Amino acid sequence: MKIDNEIDFSNTSFYKLIDVGNFEKLEKFGNYYLIRPEPQAIWQRKKSNEEWKNLAHAHYIRNEQKTSYRNSESNANGGWKFYKKTPENWIISIIEKNYKLNVKIALTSFGHIGIFPEQLTNWNFIFNTIKSLNIENPTVLNSFAYTGVASVVAKIAGANVTHLDAVKPIVLWAKENMENSKQTDIRWIVEDATKYFKREEKRGKKYNGIILDPPAYGRGPTGEKWILEDDINELLHTASKILMPNNAFLILNLYSLGFSPYIASNLIDSHFKYTKKEFGELILKSETEFNLPLGNFARITR
Ligand SMILES: C[S@@+](CC[C@H](N)C(=O)[O-])C[C@H]1O[C@@H](n2cnc3c(N)ncnc32)[C@H](O)[C@@H]1O
Repeated sequence: MKIDNEIDFSNTSFYKLIDVGNFEKLEKFGNYYLIRPEPQAIWQRKKSNEEWKNLAHAHYIRNEQKTSYRNSESNANGGWKFYKKTPENWIISIIEKNYKLNVKIALTSFGHIGIFPEQLTNWNFIFNTIKSLNIENPTVLNSFAYTGVASVVAKIAGANVTHLDAVKPIVLWAKENMENSKQTDIRWIVEDATKYFKREEKRGKKYNGIILDPPAYGRGPTGEKWILEDDINELLHTASKILMPNNAFLILNLYSLGFSPYIASNLIDSHFKYTKKEFGELILKSETEFNLPLGNFARITR
């Protein structure tokens, strides 16, 4: 079933999308306002440049506009300009109906800050699905797992979690998020995703949940090239071998600009059987009433 997840943050305190347009977005993370590039925002912002500047603590300015900042090989040439005193990092608390976690925000030189708030509907899906599985200690593999918000949510829901990412400092950041959220015992793997999935298949390992959040381009820890269009089918094929036949779920996120949600859906249909599938766009609603699409997802349960 195609559903569009319009995410309205009016009842949450950890995040707000204030306004978006003219290739940038103005967001609030906890108590701090940030301006960051948004290549898709080709429309005009509602608030004036003056209003943006008056609110903002920091502004990430890229030398070259219009390239995806989520893309690890895009030239992340740029830097932060500060309008007000801003700490190097701070903690925000994500408080949902049934779980709470603490996430460290930090202004990295790439413009990343350690969280993708549009993932909120996936975190809720992960929590609720794990809770509804009919087994004790389900196993979850979170791949391309970044700073581990999904890993910590899965852990709070009661899963045995393996967190896999290619970049060691990012995995250490995820570990901090686990500790700040008063959780323990996530398994940390610094490895190329394709290699690790194959190794798990060889070992006969099976998971109740697999989360995939691949970038358009990426690199494994020893330089292994990841190109979404070239490598996704092999990875999903291996994933189909290591996902339990039932009592299982899988999430695929795709951030490549220009992809339709049907692409995530078709990829899933090429490799998996399921009892239920939902797919669609992740959309952030701004306070100025713009809908900002931030990628596609497909989620299955069986
Ligand atoms: C777009 S981020 C994921 C976002 C995150 N899951 C979230 O929503 O908060 C992509 C991640 O994939 C990792 N990565 C890139 N290439 C990889 C590879 N070949 N194997 C494993 N991880 C990789 C990067 O280090 C990065 O942390």
